Amino acid sequence: MIVILLGPPGAGKGTQAQRIEKSQGLVQLSTGDMLRSAVSAGSEVGKLAKDFMEAGKLVTDEIVVGIIAERIEEDDCKQGFLLDGFPRTVAQAEALDNMLDQNDLKLDAVVEMQVNDEVLVDRITGRYTCADCNAGYHDKNLKPKVDGVCDYCGSTNFNRRADDNRETVISRLESYHAQTAPLLPYYEAKGLLKVVDGMADIDDVSTQINEVLGALA
Ligand code: AP5
Ligand code: MG
Ligand code: ZN
Repeated sequence: MIVILLGPPGAGKGTQAQRIEKSQGLVQLSTGDMLRSAVSAGSEVGKLAKDFMEAGKLVTDEIVVGIIAERIEEDDCKQGFLLDGFPRTVAQAEALDNMLDQNDLKLDAVVEMQVNDEVLVDRITGRYTCADCNAGYHDKNLKPKVDGVCDYCGSTNFNRRADDNRETVISRLESYHAQTAPLLPYYEAKGLLKVVDGMADIDDVSTQINEVLGALA
């Protein structure tokens, strides 16, 4: 199964993708995570992406399309994958259509996570992740069971993203509305768009997404 999770910054794409990866065995392909790894590794791609990311602007289509085209060829993608944060422009969506065609694959659904802009700033400024296993947490909405200890790997090291500040969030939201929201009518026209209420609590959103995926299987 190949599914896109689509939604604004802080909608819960990463949170839900990690859960679906565990429950359904679909690999999470997050272009944001891949680009952050490239930035911390100091690779060529990382050097090209860094300034865009820190400004809350989209990295070029060419870079992200290249990353995804390589990644979906890997063995762990054979059972299907879940795209988190890609595509983000109509040009990326068209490139994805072409690469799926070339690999004899088809997109099963696009899940739109609808969340009001007002709650997104809170979600993003309160977010942090485990430095060792990348599990996501939130200062108020999703704390580890034991304060300061990762539920999954026991690590006591956590990270906050360089772009998770108020100003950058505003710019990321603008990019979303201007460049990514046009994907909604694009996929609606193909009959692939499924909407879930991303304002609900985390477990409830998982239930809604599992219902969508269950109906496809
Ligand atoms: P990326 O990493 O994809 O960031 P984003 O789209 O801004 O999305 P986020 O990761 O911030 O949000 P999320 O939806 O994953 O929310 P999460 O689950 O963490 O991209 C970063 C940058 O990379 C971009 O700005 C761009 O520069 C570049 N980039 C990446 N892909 C690109 C592409 N394709 N093209 C061009 N450039 C690209 O949840 C947020 C917080 O809320 C968490 O703390 C969580 O615990 C909490 N939370 C989640 N769900 C709920 C809920 N239901 N109720 C309450 N709290 C919740
Ligand atoms: Mg994310
Ligand atoms: Zn961990």
